[in-house]
Amino acid sequence: MSFSTIQTSLDEHILIITINRPDKLNALNQTVLNELNEAMDLVYKDEKIKAVIITGAGEKAFVAGADIAEFVSVKDDEGESLSKKGQDIFFKVENCPKPVIAAVNGFALGGGCELAMACHFRLASTNAKFGQPEVNLGLIPGYGGTQRLTMLIGKGKAMEMMMTGNMIDANDAKTLGLVNYVETPENLIPKSKEILNVILTKSPVAISKIIEAVNAFYDKQKNGFDEEAKLFGAVFSTDDKKEGTAAFLEKRKPVFK
Ligand code: COA
Repeated sequence: MSFSTIQTSLDEHILIITINRPDKLNALNQTVLNELNEAMDLVYKDEKIKAVIITGAGEKAFVAGADIAEFVSVKDDEGESLSKKGQDIFFKVENCPKPVIAAVNGFALGGGCELAMACHFRLASTNAKFGQPEVNLGLIPGYGGTQRLTMLIGKGKAMEMMMTGNMIDANDAKTLGLVNYVETPENLIPKSKEILNVILTKSPVAISKIIEAVNAFYDKQKNGFDEEAKLFGAVFSTDDKKEGTAAFLEKRKPVFK
């Protein structure tokens, strides 16, 4: 599959999706969003792909936000649908049954921070900067940022970041729980792969149910505990559960399908 604004490369079973508009700090225009949507469809379908890393091209930015230049041509009454479209694509990232992590290699602003937050978890390079600067444009976050930032770092800090538009650095992001690890730029992708390679030794069906159950916590339509019991029930009858429990009792490593 060939794209014009993103690059994909499959390394073993890990698909690296690189947002590739470095001259515009990888800003998310409609083409990027459409291509990201297509790439995620591929991730859902292609059995060779078992995990995903999303990152940005160049040394400066992960994604510096929605493409501000494009906003000029969007009609006044098209804002809500623009937001919904971005939200739907990011839901596809968030609900992906395979692990998706963000390797944040520079500015993650506005839609960039929102994209990183839609991933299952985040690693940052030492030069990463996070922010929701929409307020500087007379806007608010529209691709899930008001919700996911609040979930991830709590109401007070989220309010402050969105109201001031100020950026935070990678270490502050780690302290706040926005990222799990801070790595040198060279080590960002290797560390991301190292973690995914641990996850890939586990039962894929169990991993997909963990994603579903944890996401249920944030879904106001669902009772997370009921979802957990349902999903626990679903994994309980799998071959992977039989293999995992048998391997433990036989003191050997499990081989999951
Ligand atoms: N949309 C469109 N273009 C963007 C962009 C965005 N969100 N962010 C950066 N760019 C473009 C710049 O316009 C510039 O293009 P040009 O060279 O054709 O003029 C190029 O990327 C480089 O950006 P520049 O601003 O020159 O880099 P910098 O190092 O001086 O500043 C930032 C970096 C990230 C602080 C600055 O680009 C910025 O504030 N970007 C907007 C962030 C934002 O508000 N995001 C939320 C959008 S809703």
